[in-house]
Amino acid sequence: MRVVLAPMEGVLDHLMRDLLTKIGGYDLCVTEFVRVVDQLISERAFFRLCPELKNANAYGSTTEAGTPVRVQLLGQHPTCMAENAAKVIELGSHGVDINFGCPSKMVNNNRGGAVLLKDPENLYQIISAVKNATPKDTIVSAKIRLGYEDKSLAIENAQAVESAGANELTVHARTKVEGYKPPAHWHWIAKIKQHIDIPVIANGDIFTLDDAQKCREISDCQDIMVGRGALMLPNLGQVIKQIAPVMPWNEVQALLLEYTCCETYGDKSKYYPNRIKQWLKYLKLQYTEADELFQEIRTLKTAQAIKDLL
Ligand SMILES: Cc1cc2nc3c(=O)[nH]c(=O)nc-3n(C[C@H](O)[C@H](O)[C@H](O)COP(=O)(O)O)c2cc1C
Repeated sequence: MRVVLAPMEGVLDHLMRDLLTKIGGYDLCVTEFVRVVDQLISERAFFRLCPELKNANAYGSTTEAGTPVRVQLLGQHPTCMAENAAKVIELGSHGVDINFGCPSKMVNNNRGGAVLLKDPENLYQIISAVKNATPKDTIVSAKIRLGYEDKSLAIENAQAVESAGANELTVHARTKVEGYKPPAHWHWIAKIKQHIDIPVIANGDIFTLDDAQKCREISDCQDIMVGRGALMLPNLGQVIKQIAPVMPWNEVQALLLEYTCCETYGDKSKYYPNRIKQWLKYLKLQYTEADELFQEIRTLKTAQAIKDLL
């Protein structure tokens, strides 16, 4: 079984990837999406999104703990997506992931993300172009939802991804219109799996060991992807693999302190206060202590004030 850390824009950046993969239990990370419009993105921008590229070796980019990191691209133009995919592979990304699931209005108005699911040909053209532009052994993966408005094209979209040459597919088991509303329809992943042969990674609403077991059974998938769950319970990967119990609060507190290393990240004074509050909002769904801490730091504005309190 592989447990993949989900791409989460504005939340799961390289600092969080480092912190979580150091705990263990996660086998692969996918970066936040980078938006491809109509030109080649600069190396600088790729390094900012994925500093792990700087440590890339023959096996590709990894976090400090050695977990592979794959860059995710979002865009609509096959040629431009292909050019950027070739670039991230040249820079050392452990494969390239294509986002066909983003529900953001702005992104969809520009014809990127989930809106592309309205026609399987969009997926086919983009994945084929990416596959043709990258070396033969490149892992090209796609992340889809079950559809845009409804699920009528779920299987056709998955088949388009496979026939274009993708090596694996992650399915977030909801349509764009369903947003993040529970439940995730894991049985739909099983339906998709019956029609394609590439590995499928099941995603959506896996927050506990029990969820993971149910999802794997219902979706018929070996591999799963976790996003919000890993922020609620930092060692969710280990818990799912049954190699460690739920992390006690004192260890989470130690992580919160370790996270203070990002205090000066990007020289943005608001980065740390904002990010730690955002993380506590997830943690409080698992730990009552996180809610108490959130109430205490809610009004604090500087990193130092928060560090003192911790
Ligand atoms: C704040 C936030 C940001 C996200 N950013 C991305 C992204 O950049 N790329 C992507 O493919 N999915 C993104 N997603 C979707 C997640 O990767 C995942 O599919 C979704 O949260 C369901 O999984 P979960 O229930 O384990 O969180 C994002 C989700 C959230 C909540």
